[in-house]
Order: sequence, then structure tokens, then C-alpha cells
Amino acid sequence: MKSIKSSIAFLLAGFLIVAFGDTGLAKDECLNCHQELEDELQTPALKIKNDIHFQKGLTCADCHGGDPTSDDPDISMSRAKGFRGVPSHQTVPQFCARCHSDANFMKTYNPRLPVDQYQKYKTSIHGQKIVKGDEKVANCVSCHSVHEIMPANNPKSSIYPVNLPQTCAKCHADEEYMKEYGIPTDQFSKFSVSVHGKALLEKKDIGAPACNDCHGNHGATPPGIGSISNVCEQCHVVMGELFSKSPHKPAFQEMDLPQCETCHSNHDIIPPNDDMIGVTEQSICMECHAEDEENDGYKVAAQMRMRIDSLRVRYEKAKKLLEEAEEKGMEVSDARFDLKDVYSALVATRSDIHSFSLPVVLETSNSGLELADKTMEKGKQALEEYNFRRLGLGISTLIITLLIIALYMKIKAIEREQKTS
Ligand code: HEC
Ligand code: HEC
Ligand code: HEC
Ligand code: HEC
Ligand code: HEC
Ligand code: HEC
Ligand code: HEC
Ligand code: HEC
Ligand code: HEC
Repeated sequence: MKSIKSSIAFLLAGFLIVAFGDTGLAKDECLNCHQELEDELQTPALKIKNDIHFQKGLTCADCHGGDPTSDDPDISMSRAKGFRGVPSHQTVPQFCARCHSDANFMKTYNPRLPVDQYQKYKTSIHGQKIVKGDEKVANCVSCHSVHEIMPANNPKSSIYPVNLPQTCAKCHADEEYMKEYGIPTDQFSKFSVSVHGKALLEKKDIGAPACNDCHGNHGATPPGIGSISNVCEQCHVVMGELFSKSPHKPAFQEMDLPQCETCHSNHDIIPPNDDMIGVTEQSICMECHAEDEENDGYKVAAQMRMRIDSLRVRYEKAKKLLEEAEEKGMEVSDARFDLKDVYSALVATRSDIHSFSLPVVLETSNSGLELADKTMEKGKQALEEYNFRRLGLGISTLIITLLIIALYMKIKAIEREQKTS
């Protein structure tokens, strides 16, 4: 009895191995055959091992249709078996959306994955133009690659933040490719040297925005943003809040100017510096407030710059004094702490200019200026104490020397006395 049971089990196991291969999965004749082919017929079968779909158990046939159990190409790739072939540039979005817009299907794999990519894509310039037959705009595989599609958190992925700018640049930095559209092709080159580009591409700081953080992954603009001109405040929250309450908010709105770009640009944002504010030639304020010296904007620009300058100058003076004292071995760690707060006040003042309100800037800078004065005082005191100690040391050395000389003379005198007696 026992032996019959075990031979049935043995036969069943054998059947399973024959039917589904040694992996336990259904045999994939598409993959088997294509692995043995050449060039673009073979490449998909080689690349697919890195593809998220393959790793999650999806096969060639899940995307292309057909019958993966038959090794006869006339059967496996027959339309009768649902073979879809290769989608055209224009139909790729629907090809991917068949699954990615199907919430019920996607839930069985990953309930947290959004299913709105196609919906959003349709609202982007890419999506709007593709339906009109534009063959050059990006479709899903232009950004995601094909047969080696990976999630965004995989550092090898074409959409990993550090790699993404290059993915967009494939088209957007190609002058020849973009010629017919008449839009600039300098976004990547400008971005690469901007504060954001350097942080992302050189320092690999993925907190800095890649193209998609401002432009959205699939839609024209990222979620929660009415217009791309509001995108900066998603990360620069404090500046955004200050700007919203500033007189520039309504003024720029009326002139139809973007809120941050107007002064900082979008792709080639440089590290800001104090020359950008004030009434000198380099100041951006002068682009709008130059003509009239009675204009409040002009006056405020001048005063804000003066405040920043005096805070910076006093910070530097205090820093120098403390360094000098430290070199001479004086203990000034307490004042060093205050100096840090002075620096914070300088940073806060530079940020508070975005209120474009003089009282706000005066308040922030005042606390810094007072503390700078105190710190300088502490530095001066340390140096005075050093000088006093040095003077003291000099005097005591002199006294000791005199004493030694006196002692010496005394000894000599005693010796002389002894000799004569
Ligand atoms: C026994 C070999 C073999 C099997 C099995 C096979 N293919 Fe192919 N496949 C080929 C060859 C050869 C070509 C190129 C000639 C042609 O288009 O018929 C091809 C072409 C293709 C193409 C390109 C078609 C086009 O229109 O350009 C796709 C996509 C494809 N196969 C997918 C699949 C899928 C999916 C399966 C499994 C359901 C599969 N193949 C099974 C050999 C095979
Ligand atoms: C996630 C869906 C997906 C999977 C899985 C997939 N493909 Fe494709 N495949 C596509 C898309 C989309 C295209 C069209 C690419 C384009 O327009 O550049 C394509 C194109 C092709 C082509 C045409 C040549 C080329 O590279 O453009 C072949 C052949 C092919 N696939 C075979 C396969 C084989 C074999 C497998 C399994 C090893 C497979 N594909 C798995 C989506 C898929
Ligand atoms: C047969 C259904 C199907 C098709 C067709 C399909 N996908 Fe997928 N896709 C999936 C499933 C299932 C996953 C895995 C989700 C998971 O488990 O995280 C996935 C994962 C992905 C991921 C990774 C998501 C993440 O961040 O984890 C990307 C990107 C992706 N697909 C893009 C595409 C693109 C682009 C196409 C068209 C070329 C496509 N898919 C076609 C079913 C499909
Ligand atoms: C212009 C480039 C671009 C196009 C076109 C594009 N994607 Fe994406 N996609 C991205 C980027 C970038 C991300 C990753 C964002 C991130 O860092 O999380 C992404 C993320 C995804 C994800 C992961 C889940 C999510 O929404 O974050 C899926 C799935 C996906 N895309 C599918 C598609 C499909 C399907 C299409 C076509 C309808 C498509 N994508 C078109 C750039 C693109
Ligand atoms: C396959 C090539 C290709 C890729 C890859 C691509 N784009 Fe595009 N993009 C285009 C084309 C072509 C247009 C249409 C230009 C036009 O009509 O002005 C366009 C339009 C745009 C526009 C609208 C420009 C305007 O007219 O104001 C933006 C923004 C944009 N793309 C951003 C991106 C971003 C961000 C990425 C990467 C995540 C990207 N694109 C990837 C080809 C591409
Ligand atoms: C810090 C945010 C930000 C980043 C990062 C960014 N952009 Fe932009 N981009 C903008 C803004 C804002 C505009 C102007 C949109 C408007 O005024 O309608 C713009 C405009 C564009 C345009 C329209 C043509 C033009 O030059 O004015 C394209 C195309 C574009 N960006 C592509 C890219 C690409 C590609 C990258 C990555 C290399 C990128 N952008 C990175 C914010 C950004
Ligand atoms: C995804 C988040 C994000 C978005 C969106 C973003 N930034 Fe940034 N920004 C950063 C990070 C992170 C840094 C710091 C980079 C570094 O390490 O220097 C930065 C740095 C800056 C700096 C330099 C600050 C300094 O002290 O040197 C300026 C100016 C700036 N961003 C302006 C903008 C503007 C204008 C926009 C919109 C067009 C914008 N940012 C959109 C994250 C963002
Ligand atoms: C009217 C012009 C103007 C506008 C509008 C403007 N800024 Fe600035 N921003 C400046 C100036 C000037 C500085 C440099 C201040 C300094 O360093 O003395 C600066 C500095 C910065 C800095 C660096 C601050 C630091 O800590 O050194 C960031 C970040 C920044 N701006 C972001 C933004 C954001 C985000 C917006 C939109 C909400 C914005 N700016 C709007 C003029 C402007
Ligand atoms: C793109 C043009 C533009 C730029 C650049 C600009 N402003 Fe303005 N500013 C305006 C407009 C328009 C108003 C509202 C009308 C007015 O009062 O002149 C305004 C108003 C002001 C006000 C309020 C004046 C009042 O009447 O109470 C201040 C303060 C101000 N700006 C400061 C600055 C400073 C500082 C800078 C440089 C960092 C600057 N602005 C850069 C256009 C600009």
C-alpha cells in the first residue's frame, strides 16, 4: 500500500517537473527560443533578467500575448493565441496601461503602487502630442527603457534620480532631434552646473530636484501644484511662506511673472550671494526698481543690503578676533558658540529678505548685530587679558633676572671678602 502511494507521488512529481520545468514555474518557450536567436530578437531575452516584470514572475507573453507553452513559433506567436506583436510608438502607453491602469490587477502584486500613470501622462505635453501622431515625444519606454524596466529606487534604473536628467537629455539636449519644435535644448547643460545639478549629479544628494521633481513624472506638473511656477516652495518651504505674504506676491501675479524663477531662473540657479540685492549694478532689484530713487522698493533694497553687509562685516571681525585669541592659547569656546548664532542670524536675514518687508529684516538682523557686538567684546577681552598676562610675565621675568644678578653679585662679594680675610 505504502509503495503504491509513494510511486504515485513520484509519478506526480515527475509530471510536474516535465510540465512546469525545474523552477516550478510554467515553461517559457518564448524566452527559451529567443535566447537562442540573434540581435534585436535575442536582446530582450538577455536584458529581461534585470527587469522588474520578469523578477515579479511576469513573462514575455504577459506583455506581448501568445502561448508561452508551445515551442512552435507558428502557434506560440499566432494571433489566434492572442499574440500582440510589437506596439507602435503611439500605442505603447495603452500597451503598458492595460495592466498599470487596472487597479484590481495591480493590487494583487503591489497595493501601494499608484495606477494613475497613464491618466497623468495624457495631460502632459508628451501625452497630448502623441495622440496627434507625434513620433518624437516621450512614451513610457523612452523614460523607463524596455526589457530592463526597474523601479525608481534602483540605482541602475533610467529613472533613478541621479540618472534621470540624462534620460530626459537624450532628447531634450539633442539639437537636431528637437529642431522642429523651436524650444531651447540647454536645460541639461544649465541644470548640470546649477546648485541643484551639482548637488544631485556630483554630491549624489537625492534630496535635490531632478527634472521630474519640478516637471512631474507623468503629468505636466507635480501633484498639489497649480502651476510649475509654484514648485520651488515644495522644498523651500520657508522662502515660499515669506514670499506669499510679501508685496511681490500680488505684484508678480498681476504681471504674470513666476514667483521664484523671476529672480533665480529655473534651470541655471546659481548659489545666491549678497550682490543680488541692493542698488548696485549687479543687483536684480534694479531690474524693476532702478528708475525712481523715491520708490519704496529701491529704498528698501538699499537698506536690506546695508543690514546684510554690516552683519557680515561684524561677523567676520568677531571671527578674526576669536581666531587671534585662540592662536594665543586663550580660552574662548563660549564666544565661539555665540559666533555660531551670529552666523545663523546672517543666514536667517538672507532668507528673510523674501518677506520684502524692512521691519522683518530689521528684527532678524538686530538680534544678530547685538550678539556680534557681544562676541567681539569677548574676543577683545581675551586679547587684553593675554596682553596683561604677557606684561605681567615680562615684569616678573625682569624682577627674577634682577634678583639673580643681585644674588650673583652678593656671592661674588662674599667670595672676595673670604679671599681677603
Ligand atoms: C521557436 C522560436 C520562437 C518562439 C517559441 C517564440 N518566438 Fe518570437 N520570434 C521568433 C522569431 C524567429 C522571430 C522573428 C520572425 C518573426 O517575426 O516571425 C520572432 C519575433 C518575435 C517578436 C517580434 C515580432 C514583430 O512583429 O516584430 C516578438 C515581440 C516575439 N517574437 C515575442 C514572442 C513571444 C511573446 C513568444 C511566446 C509567446 C515568442 N516570441 C515565442 C522565434 C520564436
Ligand atoms: C513589460 C512588458 C514587456 C515584456 C515583459 C517584454 N516586452 Fe518585448 N517589448 C515591449 C515593448 C513595449 C516593446 C516595444 C519597444 C519600443 O517601442 O521600443 C517591445 C519590443 C520587443 C521586440 C521588438 C524588438 C525591440 O527590441 O524593439 C521583441 C523581439 C520583443 N519585445 C521580445 C520580447 C521577449 C522575447 C520578451 C521576453 C523575454 C519580451 N519582449 C518581454 C514590452 C515588453
Ligand atoms: C502584464 C501586465 C503589465 C504590463 C503590460 C506592464 N506592466 Fe509594469 N508592472 C506590472 C507589475 C505586476 C509590476 C510589479 C509591481 C510590484 O510588484 O511592485 C510592474 C512594475 C513596473 C514598474 C516598477 C514600479 C515600482 O516602482 O515598483 C515600472 C516602472 C513599470 N512596471 C513600467 C511599465 C512600463 C513602462 C510598461 C510598458 C512598457 C509596463 N510596465 C507594462 C505589470 C505590467
Ligand atoms: C517623461 C518620462 C516618463 C514617462 C513618459 C513615463 N514615465 Fe513612468 N515614471 C517616470 C519617473 C521619473 C518615475 C519615478 C518617479 C520617482 O522617482 O518616484 C516614474 C514612475 C513610474 C511608475 C512607478 C509608480 C509611480 O507612479 O511612481 C510606474 C508604474 C510608471 N512610471 C509607469 C509608466 C507608464 C505606464 C507610462 C506610460 C503611460 C510612463 N510611466 C511614462 C518617468 C516617466
Ligand atoms: C523621446 C524623447 C523625449 C524624452 C526622453 C523626453 N522628452 Fe520631453 N519632449 C519631447 C518632445 C519631442 C517634446 C515636444 C516639444 C514641444 O512641442 O515643444 C517634449 C516636450 C516636453 C516639455 C514641454 C516643453 C514645452 O513645450 O513647453 C517638457 C516640460 C518636457 N518635455 C520635459 C521632459 C522631461 C522632464 C523629461 C524626462 C523626465 C522628458 N521631457 C523626456 C521629447 C522627449
Ligand atoms: C528646479 C525646478 C526645475 C528643474 C530641476 C528642471 N526644470 Fe525644466 N523648467 C522649470 C520651470 C519653472 C520651467 C518654466 C516653465 C514655464 O514657465 O512654463 C521649465 C521649463 C522647461 C522646458 C520648456 C522649455 C524651456 O527651456 O523653457 C523644458 C523642455 C524643460 N524645462 C526640461 C527640463 C529638463 C530636461 C530638466 C532636467 C535636465 C529640467 N527641465 C529641470 C523648472 C525646472
Ligand atoms: C525637490 C526639492 C527641491 C525643489 C523642487 C527645488 N529645490 Fe532648490 N534646493 C534643494 C536642495 C536640496 C538644495 C541644496 C543643494 C545643495 O546641497 O547645495 C537647493 C538649493 C537651492 C538654492 C541655493 C541655496 C543656497 O543656499 O545656496 C536656491 C537659490 C534654490 N534651491 C532655488 C530653487 C528654486 C528657485 C526652485 C524652483 C524653480 C527650487 N529651488 C526647487 C531642493 C529643491
Ligand atoms: C525679488 C527677487 C527674489 C525672489 C522673487 C525670490 N528670491 Fe530667493 N533670493 C533673492 C536674493 C537677492 C537672495 C540672496 C540673498 C543674499 O545672499 O544676500 C536670495 C536667496 C535665496 C536662497 C538662499 C538663501 C540662503 O540661505 O542663502 C534661496 C534658497 C532662495 N532665495 C529661494 C527662493 C525661493 C524658493 C523663492 C520663491 C518662493 C525665491 N527665492 C524668490 C531674491 C529673490
Ligand atoms: C520683476 C520685477 C521686480 C524685481 C526684480 C523686484 N521687484 Fe520689488 N516690486 C516689484 C513690483 C511690481 C512691486 C509693486 C509695485 C511697487 O511698489 O513698486 C514691488 C514692490 C516691492 C516692495 C514694496 C514696496 C512698497 O510699496 O511697499 C519692496 C520692499 C520691494 N519690491 C523690494 C524689492 C527688492 C529688495 C528686490 C530685489 C531683491 C526687488 N524688490 C526686486 C517688482 C520687482
